[in-house]
Amino acid sequence: MDYNKYIEIVDDWPKEGISFKDITPLMSDGDAFRAAVDDIVEFAKEKEVDVIVGPEARGFIIGCPVSYALGRGFVPVRKKGKLPREVIQVNYGLEYGENVLAIHKDAIKSGQRVLITDDLLATGGTIEATIKLVEELGGVVAGCAFLIELSYLNGIDKLEGYEVLSLITY
Ligand code: PRP
Repeated sequence: MDYNKYIEIVDDWPKEGISFKDITPLMSDGDAFRAAVDDIVEFAKEKEVDVIVGPEARGFIIGCPVSYALGRGFVPVRKKGKLPREVIQVNYGLEYGENVLAIHKDAIKSGQRVLITDDLLATGGTIEATIKLVEELGGVVAGCAFLIELSYLNGIDKLEGYEVLSLITY
């Protein structure tokens, strides 16, 4: 499916100079959203993943339906101070700002094959931080799947050696 028409581009939001890609029209179209999830599910099957990991918040939107379709678990990577039990955490840079991401220490078993999902690959800071967390727990990153890749921000450079699926590239 051509997903481009389901993405609304909002210039100068949330800051001047940022061209925001709004995925909510895609999500609100049942056929388009299902098709996008199905494409990622196929990728996950090829990579024989055991568990899905998604960073807050939009990584949850993509990861949870994939998890449900595969009958595999979903592990949230959350922003600082949101997870109640013992965590490991990492600092990361964003297209606009800085943050801390955390994962429960017991969320991944050593050797588990992990699919990381997110709506967007921009600078790659979020996916790089998420990979760090997964690998520190002994997980094997079998693939990374995004709805959108902003190729002009070169986030893909941080994913050398990893299997990547992007459904839309700008
Ligand atoms: C956005 C987006 C990705 C990340 C991509 O999330 O959903 O997770 O930025 O940017 P990067 O490749 O430069 O790291 P954001 O941190 O804005 O959080 P949200 O999903 O909670 O809005």
